[in-house]
Amino acid sequence: MSSFSTDLKSFADKIDSFLLDYFKQQEQPTKIYEAMGYGLFSGGKKIRSYLTLGAFDLLELEESLAIPVAAAIECVHSYSLIHDDLPSMDNDDFRRGKESTHKKFGESTAILAGNSLLTIAFEILTSDALHLDKETKSDLVFALASCSGHQGIAGGQYLDLSFEGKQQTQEAIIDMENKKTGVLMGFCCEAAAIVGKKKELREELRKIGLDMGLLFQVADDLLDAYGDQQKMGKPSKQDDIKGKVTLLSTLGLESTKKLAENLLNKIQQSLKKYGSKSNRLVTSAEFILKRDH
Ligand code: IPE
Ligand code: IPE
Ligand code: MG
Ligand code: MG
Ligand code: MG
Repeated sequence: MSSFSTDLKSFADKIDSFLLDYFKQQEQPTKIYEAMGYGLFSGGKKIRSYLTLGAFDLLELEESLAIPVAAAIECVHSYSLIHDDLPSMDNDDFRRGKESTHKKFGESTAILAGNSLLTIAFEILTSDALHLDKETKSDLVFALASCSGHQGIAGGQYLDLSFEGKQQTQEAIIDMENKKTGVLMGFCCEAAAIVGKKKELREELRKIGLDMGLLFQVADDLLDAYGDQQKMGKPSKQDDIKGKVTLLSTLGLESTKKLAENLLNKIQQSLKKYGSKSNRLVTSAEFILKRDH
């Protein structure tokens, strides 16, 4: 394993154990809890957690503060994937090398597990598990809520579905990809400025995360077309089958690769001034583009 993979896995394990401890304190009565755990602990990369940690590094903030924030972000992410796979959305039967949550638990349970994961994110951010003052917690909640609704994930997912089979401009596709994937990664980075009470850095860090997110979605679209489904744990070539409108389907392979390289350069340039404090974010950006899963 490369040192990046080891570091990524090590932080992912910390997030998993935080979440397990958090859930241990709650009533765990029914299948909905099992379905939530299935969506949350089913072997995702937890790259959003790592971006959060990387952004906390930039401002020399404690890892112990990054953990609950990253855990909340993973809850939102897992909710979005459970719903993304539903028959009324992408209708995908496999995720992370296993049956998707609705296949395993049924559609209504998957919908409710997703709803519950989304709301638990805000519970975590306002809980005693996060040792911050009320104002900072409120800023985190406000920013994460904005990323989750119609201006963010839900709005982006709506555009993704409504674009199916219809030509779109490059700008419209970037707007859709920013919303469905970018803004949450924007929050991963902005969260550091919120926690560090560096108001003047919020927009700068948010934009770096937004570009990471766009790069991430472009790489996901490339993987869908050219990746190895065994390694990805989800079936490949689905975007083409479903008529998804992506930068790849619109601009073609060479221009999409170029756009991705340009985005990576832009991210690297923006991080330069932080020197070695940006090591984790720089390696994350490289991983995001070069990954095979
Ligand atoms: C998949 O996200 C959904 C997209 C935003 C493209 P990830 O590839 O981060 O999913 P996991 O959590 O690692 O499975
Ligand atoms: C999903 O994008 C984005 C969100 C879940 C918000 P995709 O539909 O491309 O993700 P995969 O390919 O199913 O993981
Ligand atoms: Mg989708
Ligand atoms: Mg999908
Ligand atoms: Mg995809």
